Amino acid sequence: MNKIILFILSMALLMSCGKEVRNDVQAKSWQEIAPTEITLNPLQMIDRDWLEVSAGKEGKMNLMTISWGTIGELWNKPVFIVYVSTSRYTHQFMEENDYFTVTHFPESMRPQLSYLGRASGRNEDKVAGAGLTVEFTELGNPIYAEADLAIECKKIYAQQFDADLLPQEQREWYERSGLGIHYMYIGEILHVWKK
Ligand SMILES: Cc1cc2nc3c(=O)[nH]c(=O)nc-3n(C[C@H](O)[C@H](O)[C@H](O)COP(=O)(O)O)c2cc1C
Repeated sequence: MNKIILFILSMALLMSCGKEVRNDVQAKSWQEIAPTEITLNPLQMIDRDWLEVSAGKEGKMNLMTISWGTIGELWNKPVFIVYVSTSRYTHQFMEENDYFTVTHFPESMRPQLSYLGRASGRNEDKVAGAGLTVEFTELGNPIYAEADLAIECKKIYAQQFDADLLPQEQREWYERSGLGIHYMYIGEILHVWKK
């Protein structure tokens, strides 16, 4: 009995802590910075913290968690590259839209990021499921009040990896997993906002 009460109390504490952190970030306003002013280590930000990639406009958008990505310079432009499997509902949104956004969240949002990386927008409203507050940029692209970094990109190149050119290890991995081969979407970074 004591254990059950202790469990309920710790869950309540955990939820209230999460809320405080969330409200803190939500309350802050966005400040535009240059791409060169992003101070997060790229591998920490992408591989460890995870990100959300979002595409679409108000009324028709989707988002999913990513931990593959590349930030850098190409054709004299700052770029962010995301890799989206054709198996993802998000793939359709990446194809249909000229822009995408990449957002980073505080560590307290990890459970929501995990959910957004398991659930599919084909079956449910993921924004509502994760309790996110969508804000739209001047260009009409989705970012989130709960995020602490938002990168808005214009799609400048998209291509699916060629199965014949994949390293054998990766080719076998796709065959084993049955996952649709990833498209790379190279986005020119137009805006970066942080809190
Ligand atoms: C930590 C994590 C990282 C992920 N990274 C990628 C990624 O880089 N590319 C990708 O295609 N899917 C990735 N996924 C899988 C998608 O997020 C997942 O399949 C999601 O449910 C797709 O949602 P959708 O069907 O609404 O597009 C990742 C999932 C997790 C949990």
